[in-house]
Order: sequence, then structure tokens, then C-alpha cells
Amino acid sequence: MQFQFTEEQLMIQQAARDFAQNELKPGVIERDEQQKFPAEQIKKLGELGFLGMMVDPKYNGAGLDTVSYVLAMEELSKIDASASVVVSVNNSLVCYGIEKYGTEEQKEKYLKPLATGEKIGAFCLSEPEAGSDATSQRTTAVDMGDHYLLNGTKNWITNGSSASTYLVIAQTDVEKGHRGINVLIVEKGMEGFSIGPKENKLGIRGSDTHSLMFTDVKVPKANRIGEDGFGFKFAMKTLEGGRIGIAAQALGIASGAYELSVQYAKERKAFGKPIADHQAIQFKLADMATQIEAARLLCIKAAWLKDQGLPYAQASSMAKLYASEVAMKTTVEAVQIHGGYGFVKEYHVERLMRDAKITQIYEGTSEIQRIVISREVLK
Ligand code: CAA
Repeated sequence: MQFQFTEEQLMIQQAARDFAQNELKPGVIERDEQQKFPAEQIKKLGELGFLGMMVDPKYNGAGLDTVSYVLAMEELSKIDASASVVVSVNNSLVCYGIEKYGTEEQKEKYLKPLATGEKIGAFCLSEPEAGSDATSQRTTAVDMGDHYLLNGTKNWITNGSSASTYLVIAQTDVEKGHRGINVLIVEKGMEGFSIGPKENKLGIRGSDTHSLMFTDVKVPKANRIGEDGFGFKFAMKTLEGGRIGIAAQALGIASGAYELSVQYAKERKAFGKPIADHQAIQFKLADMATQIEAARLLCIKAAWLKDQGLPYAQASSMAKLYASEVAMKTTVEAVQIHGGYGFVKEYHVERLMRDAKITQIYEGTSEIQRIVISREVLK
């Protein structure tokens, strides 16, 4: 048992912290207000290797471990969760999915530019009537011999318009249920593929979330990932790792709000002394610190299991379930500690509170995580 990060892991953490302070913090309030995608910042993150962190260097990745990824995600999310979700989806859903299950040609063509951030990826599973119930896919990919004919609609897709490469999950054979689902790599610009308007969201307002529409899109067979019918398992396996990324995002939102609260509590005076000297505030900070540390340990444990090649489905769901609940509780308390200041944008905590909510919803709601965990526990 080693409770110490390696020098390399600490270096990545510091690099992410510096990037967040110097590049993400300026303009984060305006981007949130204007729902502006952090395009320049994402480009720079790509140049620094943060968009293909765990990808093998032979496919242009940084070749790092999942623990480093968690540390980086925490630091970026402390400041800008709209940027960090792009990092998370690109790394742990799209790059991972193609690297782990794709063909050599798919890796050459699609993974390489995704790993450097030259292109961004999106993961398209959710539908108007298939969010949590992911086996009920209505989007169809009909086998036409050398290609699939793709028809349907996907909803709430992160990186909906900024992406160039989309992993689309669709039903090929209804009779076979979840075993008749495929995953196809769809490129922006393919005929019949259109992008709906940007969603006007409560939180992570800088990230671009869209519906996607597919009308008779011809997708070459060579763009299918894995064997015929592998699409549902692909989605489940990929989400296992994706949930580590979102857990780390939730952790970062919580620790960002906590750090601001500690600083504020030392500066703000009430009843003749800093509010940090009042037990009411001290107890809140103690609870926040304890819960954040527990969330961090769950995130690191899940990442470590993945790095060791051990099963991590239960651990990643536990990390996501707990860290997202801690993010919600901590940010609400952070606003409370800040009082009236907490309710205005300049103090950042109201944004973190709004951003926290999505971590309990995407890549599986808290209820889905409880399903995954209880199935493992009862198995
Ligand atoms: N690994 C491998 N196989 C798995 C698996 C896993 N983790 N989980 C399930 N499977 C397999 C099962 O073994 C089963 O296969 P067999 O019949 O061959 O044995 C098959 O998949 C179906 O499994 P279930 O019967 O368990 O399926 P279910 O209908 O009960 O659903 C569920 C399981 C866990 C609820 C699943 O539907 C789920 O995870 N839903 C949530 C989906 C989700 O997270 N959506 C988020 C959208 S993506 C997103 O948000 C990205 C973004 O933009 C930020």
C-alpha cells in the first residue's frame, strides 16, 4: 500500500493547476454567462497533451496513467467544469473506446487527431426515450452490405457542435435486443447528419450540448467498432472509465468550492472576528474537508484499479455516486458560507453549485450508479 503519488503524477497535477489558474480562470464567468465554448483553452489543453492523456504515445497520446488523469481532472474542474467535461469525454469515452476496441485503421485515422485535440470527440448514446434505459435505442443502423444506413436522434450530446468525430450507438437488429446494437464512428459533414441548436443549461454552460439528427446517413462498415452487436457492451465498458472522469470532475468542483470557502472564511469578519473563528463555520469546513477526502480516495482507488488491469465497474460507480453527492452538498454549503456574496457571480461558488448538479445526472444518474453497485454487491 503506497499513499504517495509519483513525481510524474505530482508534475501533471501541478501543470493542470497552473493551466487552470492562468488559462481557465480568466474569462470563466463570462464564458458561463454567454454560454461560450472554451475553444482557445481546449486547443491549448490539446497541445499540452491533456486531451489524450492515457493514449499510447504511438497514437500521439501522453501515455499517462488514470491516476494522473484524476489529478488533472480535479485541478481543471476546480476552476472550469465546462472545459473539464470536454477533457473527460474526449479522454475516457472517445479516445479510450477507439484505442481499446478499434481497428488499427480506426486508430490511425481517428484516434491520432483526437489524442492531440486537433479534433474533438463526442459519445452519442442518450436519446429522447433512452437516457438511463440505454438498451432501448431507437436510432437505427440498418446493414446495407458495405455500409450502415443511420437514422434517428441523439439528445444532450456533450461536444455536440465542437466535435468532429462522433461515436454513435444504434440498433441494427431489434430482435436481438441489446445484442443487436452497434457503435459507429460518424464524421461531421457526412450527408444527412445535422446538429440541433445549443441547449440553454443550468450549469456547465460553456460546454456545447446539442441534439444530433441522422437522416439516411451512410456510414461505411469500416467505421463500426468491434464485432457486429458489440455496441451496447462497448457503451457499458467505456462508461465504466468515463465515470471515473466525471467523479474526478465532481471532486474538483467540490474542492474548488471548499478552497474558496476556507479563504473567504479567514477574510470575512462578522461579530468582531473572522467567520472562520465561529464554530458554525468551522464545523461546515470540517465536514466539507472530510467528505472531499473520502471522495478523492474513491476516485484514486477506481483509477488505480483500472491502471492495474483489475475490475473497476463498482469502484467507478461508487466514486461517481459519492463524489457527485459531495459536490452538490459542498457547493450548497459554500454558497451559504459566502452569504450574500455567494449568490453573485464574482465569487464563483454559485457557478460551481450550478455545475455540480450535472455530475449527478450525466454518464448515468445517481440512481444508475446505485443499480450498478447493488448488482455487483449482490452478484
Ligand atoms: N461491462 C460489460 N457488459 C455489461 C456491463 C459492463 N459494465 N454492463 C452491462 N453489460 C452487459 C450485460 O452483461 C448484458 O449482456 P448479456 O445479456 O450478454 O449478459 C447486457 O450488457 C445488458 O445488461 P443489463 O441487462 O444489465 O442491462 P439493463 O438494461 O438492465 O441496463 C444499466 C443496465 C446499467 C442500467 C445501463 O442501461 C446503464 O448504464 N444506463 C445508463 C446509461 C448512461 O450512463 N448514459 C449516459 C449517457 S453518456 C453521457 O452522458 C456522455 C456525456 O455526454 C457526458
